[in-house]
Amino acid sequence: MTAPDRIYPTPVLWHLRQRHLLDAYLSAHGIDPAQVGATLAQLQAAPDGAAATDFCAQELADLQGLQLLGAVPPPSRSALLPFVFVKAVNLELTYSCNLACSHCLQDGLRPSGPALWPSISTLERVLEEAWLLGLTRTGVNITGGEIFLAGSPVLELLAAAAARGIPSRSNTNAWWGGRGPITIGAHHFSDDAAVVAALRQRNLGRLALSLDRRYLQYPDLLDRVIRVATLCERAQQPYEVVATEPDEATARLAEQKLNAALGHAPRHLRLTPMETVDIGAAAVQDGDSRTLDPAGIADLIHSSPCATSGFYRPYYLHIAPDGGLRSCLYAPAAGWLGNVQQQSLAALLNAAACNPVVQLFARGDFEAFIARTLTPWRHLYRDPHHGCAASALVARIAGEVERLECSSGREANERELEQLHRRFAAEYRFGVSSSC
Ligand SMILES: C[S@@+](CC[C@H](N)C(=O)[O-])C[C@H]1O[C@@H](n2cnc3c(N)ncnc32)[C@H](O)[C@@H]1O
Ligand code: SF4
Repeated sequence: MTAPDRIYPTPVLWHLRQRHLLDAYLSAHGIDPAQVGATLAQLQAAPDGAAATDFCAQELADLQGLQLLGAVPPPSRSALLPFVFVKAVNLELTYSCNLACSHCLQDGLRPSGPALWPSISTLERVLEEAWLLGLTRTGVNITGGEIFLAGSPVLELLAAAAARGIPSRSNTNAWWGGRGPITIGAHHFSDDAAVVAALRQRNLGRLALSLDRRYLQYPDLLDRVIRVATLCERAQQPYEVVATEPDEATARLAEQKLNAALGHAPRHLRLTPMETVDIGAAAVQDGDSRTLDPAGIADLIHSSPCATSGFYRPYYLHIAPDGGLRSCLYAPAAGWLGNVQQQSLAALLNAAACNPVVQLFARGDFEAFIARTLTPWRHLYRDPHHGCAASALVARIAGEVERLECSSGREANERELEQLHRRFAAEYRFGVSSSC
């Protein structure tokens, strides 16, 4: 790393100081906080930074390597703490799945063939970093696709979270309920009770199951889910049922089945109602063939539950199977905040303050951006209906247009934008015709 003339405090330094985590961060990286604390505090108070020559070369290199000092002035105060509210990180290990639910938002992203899994060492490094940056106060969620499958690193990650005292949650479609033997990762279990025991042993905070319209499609699956819920009750393993607009009859049946299996009302269950967002298979089902109306997109985005704040003041960060980092659950495969396989989370935090998607959503003036990058291709898209679907699409376009223009050093041309839109329309199943 070449030494700059002047150096400045970074958003990571501000973030750690704000969250009272700086000393722990320095110590974890082998630096004595007492030795650098005063210098860092002084620098934070100096808006024009300091001369690099004020630092010893090794100290400067170490602090730059930890992303605490940088060669560019920090962004404005309002953009300085992009992740200060983040309380949990969602790790998506794969979009592969042994099912194909009729509402699944990952429908257009699901690879065929056996699942490929990110390396355990990368995931453990990301988890460690997220913890040191204070991004896992509420915890870490480990999900897919379906991750309770051979080859999956889910059990190692749960152990890694437990070792650091990070609360964990993990999702499964419960295909393994009532079956045996079962292989998860490289671990072999004689039956489903042994799987729940392994989760308990790794201190899993909550096992998340799903209640939605999938049981009309997979009627046998409901008994498997009830079986896993029953095992959780017996093992006193907390579990959660994510209820995404299930049909009434299935919801009633599930409740009856669970009460009958337990002989009493559930004691370790938490119910989380969610909306179905028209992305993926849910978009295909929608049946509405109206094309996207660019004039309505900005209003739709503002109508989303987060009202745009999820993009510039997020509470959650999501990491896609390829390492892409984003802040919206409903934008699977997107990575507008960068890639954790290529850069440290701290480096991505530093870059987030000036990220074009973060800035676009913070300003909230989508019209000009939509007119340039979406309106000419509106015929490729159906109406996204839901505020989250519209937000996810616009964020994805903004992130990719920026990436394209940054790497080429010029404005994206018509052909490039058309390719990009055809890909998004296919991946989110927003396309109006099969040509997408
Ligand atoms: C993608 S799944 C992955 C975990 C696991 N395979 C499962 O089905 O529970 C995670 C959650 O997202 C929900 N989900 C899928 N498609 C959705 C959509 N279009 N809108 C809202 N939630 C959706 C699922 O119902 C499930 O509860
Ligand atoms: S909702 Fe879950 S189980 Fe269903 S297809 Fe999607 S990832 Fe698989």
